[in-house]
Amino acid sequence: MTYEIVHHEYDVVVVGAGGAGLRATLGLAESGLKTANITKVFPTRSHTVAAQGGISGALANMGKDDWRWHFFDTVKGSDWLGDQDAIQYMTREAIPAIIELEHYGVPFSRTPEGKIYQRPFGGMTTQFGEGPPAQRTCAAADRTGHAMLHTLYQQSLKCKAQFFIEYFALDLLMDDDGACRGVMAWDLSTGQLHRFRAQMVILATGGYGRAYFSATSAHTCTGDGNAMVLRAGLPLQDMEFVQFHPTGIYGSGCLITEGARGEGGYLTNQAGERFMERYAPSVKDLAPRDMVSRSMATEIREGRGVGEEADHIHLHLEHLGPEVLHKRLPGISESAKIFAGVDVTKEPIPVVPTVHYNMGGIPTLFTGEVVTLRDGNPDAVVPGLMAAGEAACVSVHGANRLGSNSLLDLVVFGRAAAIQAARLVKPGQPHKTIPGTSEEKCLARLDALRNAKGSTTTAALRLDMQKTMQKHCAVFRDGPLMQEGVTRLGEIVAGFVNDIAVTDRSMVWNSDLVETLELDNLLGQALVTIVCAENRQESRGAHARDDLKDRDDANWMKHTLAWRESDTGVKIDYRPVHMETLDTDVNMIPPKKRVY
Ligand code: FUM
Repeated sequence: MTYEIVHHEYDVVVVGAGGAGLRATLGLAESGLKTANITKVFPTRSHTVAAQGGISGALANMGKDDWRWHFFDTVKGSDWLGDQDAIQYMTREAIPAIIELEHYGVPFSRTPEGKIYQRPFGGMTTQFGEGPPAQRTCAAADRTGHAMLHTLYQQSLKCKAQFFIEYFALDLLMDDDGACRGVMAWDLSTGQLHRFRAQMVILATGGYGRAYFSATSAHTCTGDGNAMVLRAGLPLQDMEFVQFHPTGIYGSGCLITEGARGEGGYLTNQAGERFMERYAPSVKDLAPRDMVSRSMATEIREGRGVGEEADHIHLHLEHLGPEVLHKRLPGISESAKIFAGVDVTKEPIPVVPTVHYNMGGIPTLFTGEVVTLRDGNPDAVVPGLMAAGEAACVSVHGANRLGSNSLLDLVVFGRAAAIQAARLVKPGQPHKTIPGTSEEKCLARLDALRNAKGSTTTAALRLDMQKTMQKHCAVFRDGPLMQEGVTRLGEIVAGFVNDIAVTDRSMVWNSDLVETLELDNLLGQALVTIVCAENRQESRGAHARDDLKDRDDANWMKHTLAWRESDTGVKIDYRPVHMETLDTDVNMIPPKKRVY
């Protein structure tokens, strides 16, 4: 096994060029640090481009609002698993961060007075949950992520950040003291391997929605950074919490934004009943996603779904009229036509809860620094490593994320990571040695998969994993079902280790090998997800167990940490939830029953 390696030295390397990666890259380049961004797809093809409904922030452009109400909603939305210091940071910083985006040039939709247009979104309320829904979600029609991503990329280029495009990040380069010293990547177009030394590596590699059969996520959402963290012997946090978006198009899984309900859309069952009135009498169709998804799943389970097999639900937008649909929801009008054959001005869209977001990920502080549990310290910083965006678990979303808090999380914590890196890293600082073993391990894995001679195709094994996750770890869960899923996942992982087939041995544009590396990444995360889900003996947020229906704060108000100890072995421990706020600008919200 000999591979020629191209060597690079940077102050900071960002992996991933979605919203978080680009916002971090831009901040770093602005601060004068020599910054590289490594991305497996062209930046404006990153999955943030698919974000539709908007970015939350209490700008109060369309009615009274206060970031403290946003703070309250996010803590409650998280089912009290979110860290309140980080939530304070995010909701307070939302306002300057969004104004900054506006100044960078994001083409937001406008009110008649020229202010940024804001729409209602699920779980966003006023007066600490006592008032009417808040209009808090800043939108660029229903293509907000697209608008943001293009602006951030243009601004990063203006600041001379260097991009390594269509480079697949393989592994972190860790030293013997547990510090990160760089990252290895594979240039897909030339086949060359590249070693990047850096004082700080920031992982902004997104979620791993593709561990499931039906997901709104792009096929590239394979959680590559999360998997690198597991291979580096570090834990992932709260992986049991997987968000189902209520309105994926039935069949294709394509996203229909929650903004559709924000603009006045509503759900009905077989009888034409607006059933959300029964489940969330005060906010109805604008309840948080976990509740709407569970309500829809309950309607379907109890035989009140629509369609020949009574297995989905209708989303109505017809009553909004062509003008509103054209102005506010042009993108989903097109998606509904293409993927469901539906003219939204005339007929309802067939929808079903679909995997959309991973609340879990790489544990970080609100500064972006990655933490682990070391010598009893639950907030022990891993030197040289940060994470931001969906890859990270800060944790601002806890057990359930509110819609439009994701674009916010990307921007606020991408920006925070850049600020903290600029504090910690001196431009041009000499690099520490990277032990050869770290590089050798990475190359050995690559080489073994490249030359794998088994008989099971990557596509077949991936489908098996996706169907297992969809069946055994979905909207509703129970102990025996998840135990079966853990066993089945173990068999699938063993199938990968012992019998995976890769037929293309080249290094240039080898999509067979890319997909196999991605499957390896997904398998580790799928395993950790289902093991953690089976382990959590309560229901909270998106983790809804039929056999343990109640939240159990006495025993389970804590973050799960999970390490992958062997192919199928997962070790579990815990970190406390940060209940304290940053300062006296806002009071801690004590836990109570979560009703809407
Ligand atoms: O429904 C949506 O537009 C998605 C937004 C989000 O996930 O934050």
